[in-house]
Amino acid sequence: MMAVFPALFGLLMATMVTGDPSFTITPTEAVRRVGGELFVECKVAYQINSCRIKVGYQSYILSPSEQNQADDIVYHGGGLEKGECGAHIRRIKEEWNGNITCTLPPRTGNVEISRSMRLVVARPPGAIRLESTQQPAFNEGDKFMAQCIVPDGRPAAKITWFLDENPVFEGIHQPIITGETNDLQTISQNISRILVADDNAKTLICRAEHEALDQPREAKRQILVQYPPQRLEQGTITIFGLKLGAEGRLNVTIRANPAPDVEWTFGDQKIVASENSELSNVNALEPLHLGNGYYNITLILYRIKKEDVDRKYYLRVTNELGNEEFVVLISTMDEPAARKAKSSFLIIDVYGVELDTGAIVGIVIAVLVLLIAVSLIVFAKATGRWCFAGSRARDHTKSSGESTPAGDVLLEAGLPVPSRTDTESAVGGRERSRLAGLSARVRAALPRAKDKVQATESHAAETEEKPLSEEKKGVVYAELALGDQASTEKPPPPSAEYAEIVYTDQPKETKE
Ligand SMILES: *[C@@H]1O[C@H](CO)[C@@H](O)[C@H](O)[C@H]1NC(C)=O
Ligand SMILES: *[C@@H]1O[C@H](CO)[C@@H](O)[C@H](O)[C@H]1NC(C)=O
Ligand SMILES: *[C@@H]1O[C@H](CO)[C@@H](O)[C@H](O)[C@H]1NC(C)=O
Ligand SMILES: *[C@@H]1O[C@H](CO)[C@@H](O)[C@H](O)[C@H]1NC(C)=O
Repeated sequence: MMAVFPALFGLLMATMVTGDPSFTITPTEAVRRVGGELFVECKVAYQINSCRIKVGYQSYILSPSEQNQADDIVYHGGGLEKGECGAHIRRIKEEWNGNITCTLPPRTGNVEISRSMRLVVARPPGAIRLESTQQPAFNEGDKFMAQCIVPDGRPAAKITWFLDENPVFEGIHQPIITGETNDLQTISQNISRILVADDNAKTLICRAEHEALDQPREAKRQILVQYPPQRLEQGTITIFGLKLGAEGRLNVTIRANPAPDVEWTFGDQKIVASENSELSNVNALEPLHLGNGYYNITLILYRIKKEDVDRKYYLRVTNELGNEEFVVLISTMDEPAARKAKSSFLIIDVYGVELDTGAIVGIVIAVLVLLIAVSLIVFAKATGRWCFAGSRARDHTKSSGESTPAGDVLLEAGLPVPSRTDTESAVGGRERSRLAGLSARVRAALPRAKDKVQATESHAAETEEKPLSEEKKGVVYAELALGDQASTEKPPPPSAEYAEIVYTDQPKETKE
């Protein structure tokens, strides 16, 4: 009895609040412009004989048989006998903003029941404002703050931010909406940003979108960011490929805002750009603006002499916010190849093929994986553990057809794997010498990859315990063909052990 009580109580509450549990109104909320239309549907699970809907300050009796096109509010639905009481509301008026309520006869008794939905009659917001620190220009690293206000919209407008064409998501604060829910609302949102050189000359845009606006409204402000001259390359700059007797141009690209002044010093000469140099052999060009604060600063040597090559050129670039100094050397040699590829941290030239960091790491990982796999097999065979322990009976050694004296051993990680019956348990040098004539095929599992890595490795047989923990997804195919050596202590140079890893593609996984 006690358990039934809460359920009964809940039902009673529901009945009191809603009138009838089957009574629904859809939608429960709608935003429409003035002049727009709306369909409201109220429904109960029993036959009704009247349908009343209150819109604005007036209540309308709606009947399926009276469909007067001149009326703004007419019956909509499948008939009163189906318990449907809806309205097609046309030519929405501003004063209809608010609740729309259906009132229906009850299933039993004589108290009418009703349900409401909310109609928001959209009203465009007032003029959009963008307020920010009133500073003509900022320095790099300054914190920039702005506030965008879109007043008196119904509902509140939606604010988005852009820097030029690009949407901004960082540094956006929570919007604050003030005003009555059913009346005009003002939205304001702040943005803050630590300015960087790239922000210079960009336009911050606050964009307001609203149901009652055909076009979004925008407020803009251009941001000016100043910064002292910045170097793009660290250390001494060397200009390569110049020729004795020919003209040479010493170019240095820098970044600065506002535009920098330039002064070159070399030997006993000091030369300032923009002056028409009285020196006939050199000319310092005015900084050439490449856009976005980047400048090329050029010194022209009309005829390069031996002593020009030997000395240092000091470049001093100055603007209102600071200065930067550069040392420039010139060389008659060609630029070294490695200097050109700046993207890679480490580059190794192997037989004329440049390997970058990524390739080297890949090879190192592949070799390590191979070593671990080989160590595991040797350890397993040596100690008779894991798969080798339980499956001695199922020995199906496969011959490799090559001229290796011993047959191949095929083993699949994660499965009972056939093993040679003559596996011994000793570890150490004796064990290694037994392995010496062995050609082993190993299938172990590894994450997928497509590379085929070949590695000649003479220490592959050295044992080291590494647990094979993960469930295997791919297959590594390692072939270990050891030479006909008597002892592994000194591997013979020509027929070194050879290992191969073949990663096979997995059928389930998608290929890139
Ligand atoms: C409109 O209906 C909601 C419930 O849907 C109610 O809370 C609110 O008081 C109603 N507003 C007016 C003005 O009747
Ligand atoms: C937004 O900025 C204004 C003026 O800069 C400030 O008064 C207000 O507190 C800020 N609001 C928030 C939420 O950061
Ligand atoms: C140096 O800059 C000048 C223009 O300032 C350009 O014509 C020339 O190609 C540049 N030379 C080099 C080697 O970058
Ligand atoms: C600017 O200088 C760089 C070298 O610093 C050069 O590669 C480039 O061609 C120069 N650009 C112009 C437009 O002179």
